[in-house]
Amino acid sequence: MLKLVVCVSGGGTNLQAILDAVDRGDITNTEVAAVISNNPNAYALERAKNHDIAGICISPKQFEDRDSFNKAFLEKVNSYQPDLVVLAGFLVVIPELMIKEYRNRMINIHPSLIPSFCGTGYYGLKVHEAALARGVKVTGATVHFVDEGTDTGPIILQQPVMVKADDTPEILQRRVMEQAEWKILPQAIDLIANGKVKVIDGKSVIVDV
Ligand code: GRF
Repeated sequence: MLKLVVCVSGGGTNLQAILDAVDRGDITNTEVAAVISNNPNAYALERAKNHDIAGICISPKQFEDRDSFNKAFLEKVNSYQPDLVVLAGFLVVIPELMIKEYRNRMINIHPSLIPSFCGTGYYGLKVHEAALARGVKVTGATVHFVDEGTDTGPIILQQPVMVKADDTPEILQRRVMEQAEWKILPQAIDLIANGKVKVIDGKSVIVDV
């Protein structure tokens, strides 16, 4: 049984997609042990509660300095002994120690086709604003393992999404969620839970579907 901790900051639609996929049996061999948010008002915490899953808030604002937060955050995650940490719209920079400890055991969903529109400063609507400003005709989403860089880890799955002429950032964001994020994040978890994902040389991923 793959034990997950899901880290969130906002609405939690990706969390919901995971919970629904577990309920439907599209994700097998997996349980969500806890949802951790840095934002006390994140609707994602409600979604966890509605599912009888522990919802915890731990924010850098509760600590004197970043090191104290990093230590407490890692301890909190470790207390659930997860097999996989899922960053589902989590807006906090992951402590380096945690990246080491969870190498190839922590994944992130990013709302573009990496390496386009990713890295520092590319989060939320900004990603879709940049895609529209560049005039790309195809965008999408990427699930990848987390390494020391921003959005640089080994790519597990990508799903393309067409851009339409009259898209606004908000409309495009929604389409990328519906057609890509809510599909490939649960799919990646199911593949990992069933031993179908292997990282080769710390760089590329072989998916055995
Ligand atoms: C998603 O677009 C995700 O790709 C990005 O942040 C957003 C989170 O949305 N990293 P939600 O909280 O899952 O609804």
